[in-house]
Amino acid sequence: MIKHEAKIRAEKLKKQIDELRYRYHVLDDPQVTDEVYDSLTRELREIERQYPDLVTPDSPSQRVGGTPLDKFVKVRHARRMLSLNDAFSEQEMQDWEDRLKRLEPGSTWHYACEPKFDGLATSLIFENGVFVRGATRGDGFVGEDITQNLKTIQTIPLKLDLELTRDDFDPYLKNGKTKRMFDEVRKRALPIIRKTERIEVRGEVLMRIKDFNKLNKRENNKFANPRNAAAGSIRQLDPKIALSRKLVWHGYQLVTDLGQKNHWEEHALLGAMWLPVQLPFGAENLEEVFRFMKNRSRERDSGKYDFEMDGIVVQVYERDIFERLGVAGKAPRGAIAYKFAAKKATTVVEDILVQVGRQGNLTPIAVMKPVEVGGVTIAHASLHNEDEIKRLGLKIGDTVVVQRAGDVIPQIVEVLPKMRSGREKDFHMPKTCPVCGGKVERRAIASSSPPARGGEGGGGRGAAHVCLNPKCPAKNLRVMEHLVNAFEIYTVGPKIIERFKDEGLITDAADIFALKKEDIAVLERFGEKSAENIIASIEAHKQVPLSKFIYALGILHVGEETAIDLASHFGSLEKLQKAQLSEIDAIPNIGGAVAKSIYEYFREAHNLKYIERLLKNGVEVKSQKIQTKSGPLVGKKVVVTGTLQTLSREEAKEAVRAAGGDWVSSVSRNTDYVVVGENPGSKAEKARDLGVKILDETEFVKLLK
Ligand code: IVH
Repeated sequence: MIKHEAKIRAEKLKKQIDELRYRYHVLDDPQVTDEVYDSLTRELREIERQYPDLVTPDSPSQRVGGTPLDKFVKVRHARRMLSLNDAFSEQEMQDWEDRLKRLEPGSTWHYACEPKFDGLATSLIFENGVFVRGATRGDGFVGEDITQNLKTIQTIPLKLDLELTRDDFDPYLKNGKTKRMFDEVRKRALPIIRKTERIEVRGEVLMRIKDFNKLNKRENNKFANPRNAAAGSIRQLDPKIALSRKLVWHGYQLVTDLGQKNHWEEHALLGAMWLPVQLPFGAENLEEVFRFMKNRSRERDSGKYDFEMDGIVVQVYERDIFERLGVAGKAPRGAIAYKFAAKKATTVVEDILVQVGRQGNLTPIAVMKPVEVGGVTIAHASLHNEDEIKRLGLKIGDTVVVQRAGDVIPQIVEVLPKMRSGREKDFHMPKTCPVCGGKVERRAIASSSPPARGGEGGGGRGAAHVCLNPKCPAKNLRVMEHLVNAFEIYTVGPKIIERFKDEGLITDAADIFALKKEDIAVLERFGEKSAENIIASIEAHKQVPLSKFIYALGILHVGEETAIDLASHFGSLEKLQKAQLSEIDAIPNIGGAVAKSIYEYFREAHNLKYIERLLKNGVEVKSQKIQTKSGPLVGKKVVVTGTLQTLSREEAKEAVRAAGGDWVSSVSRNTDYVVVGENPGSKAEKARDLGVKILDETEFVKLLK
């Protein structure tokens, strides 16, 4: 075949193959046998082999062309990737609607409802119709480029149909929609599309429940649920692995404005470009939303869906109102994830073990007869502390109710005392550390204690039991695991750390950076190749930003957020080490107990020595720019009391921070503003007494702008 003919033939083949792919993978309605499909693909490959310059990025042969990456490249999202707030009951949905009504007095709107499948959020960019880049959400601002892996997903088209020629309208014409409405959107969108170079769409990467079960069987129950399996698969550096995992992509958002006026039009356009989407159900009011919810819940329980579904997404149907409602914190105000009720099951607590954490905290863990809750087998649940066991009235041998809601880790919510046989045994926290035999102290945890921001020591109120031995091997092991995790050295898992420790290769995390290939290669079950991999990944990750380094130290009460605050305040490790308690205490968001813990950490000689050895062994800390805050409230301390009409407490907090201000909980002479809502508490009076400036909601909102 001459090149000119080959080119025409190749284009025809691509189009035909793509259509068959769509029928097979998206519509689940294959029109031809696999042989026909394979034969067409073979012919295309043959042409491409003969004329390599006929290979285009949207050729089906390009789905797995890529070689393994060294690491993922970070990409900044053109528009922030948000997430959704949750509602768990009709009442919470009603509260949400009430808030919207306060924000949009006089407007009327409808709701779009659709299933919320549980996977991983992704953004796809198409340039002139061709899929050029796909990324994970990351922190919402910056994600990771996973284009190669996304290309292996057969429900993602490598090229969009920008002519919107789709002609199977059936799925669009439910719930009173007509072909005329569909034609109208297309007509409006076509001229806009012609002028639009880049189209961004967002959707979820998912794994089918049956593929998850197969994979987990093969991989020894490596993944807790299909969502984790999907996330783990899409974050593989080698696209061949992603390919083998048979992932699915499902669209839910058209980010680019192509003239869509409501949620149905948004989805209709996605579908018209041949992207896989669900058509949303349009609800007149919350009553209808609740009915939709009940039906989906019933269907899901009867096993109708191939994918894990954790609820429905409900959003304001009209786009102009949705946009006007704006964003609060990390979520659009006009949308909400209405989650299915927690799944519950009963089982028997066979034993209670005690785990020793990084800071020496002893945590009782219930070992249960494995039970399936919402598709996931559960055998362990944290009991947090002795008081939680007392609160539940739990004995070893008891029959209990366990629950799991969405991503939430399983918990024991209730004991069924009527099921007792009389052979149940009381549990007591050990007097000595179960690992090192060291002395254990009982310490009170204040209910307002800091761990809420991610540091260790949280989960429940009451008293904590703590192993006092600073050299406790369990603590030491957890500190190492924590550092390796924080540094993202994924080749070195907990088992490997324990092995290295047992072999005498390492005594603390600093030693990890002094390991040599030869140290590891001689160990049984390791060998050259895996030693090389381990060393390479340690090398590749030993440069870290200051915030990560601080987090990795495992300072009591210092989670990722606090570490970021410290890094952006001090900018360098030296400055942080030398900081006085008062300076740390003055950093917004860092409370007294946390500040004290940080200050004391840097006063301990063995901690300083540890840091010194980390650096000596090659860890490089990249200094961070000190972030100067900006906004109308910089340097201002703001207290809010009472209920606000337009903002929830969390939203008000976010808004104050976003405006550069500090959110404080009690009024003092240093407070700059006290915002008074409905039914204010004693804080309003105190503000008056102290002469602090009082604002009503309108003044406050004005100030934020
Ligand atoms: S709309 C503002 N629709 O759930 C973000 N999200 O918990 C736009 N998700 O980040 C979300 N199915 O990854 C939307 N039908 C659906 C969804 C959906 C699953 C995911 C999405 C989102 C997360 C929030």
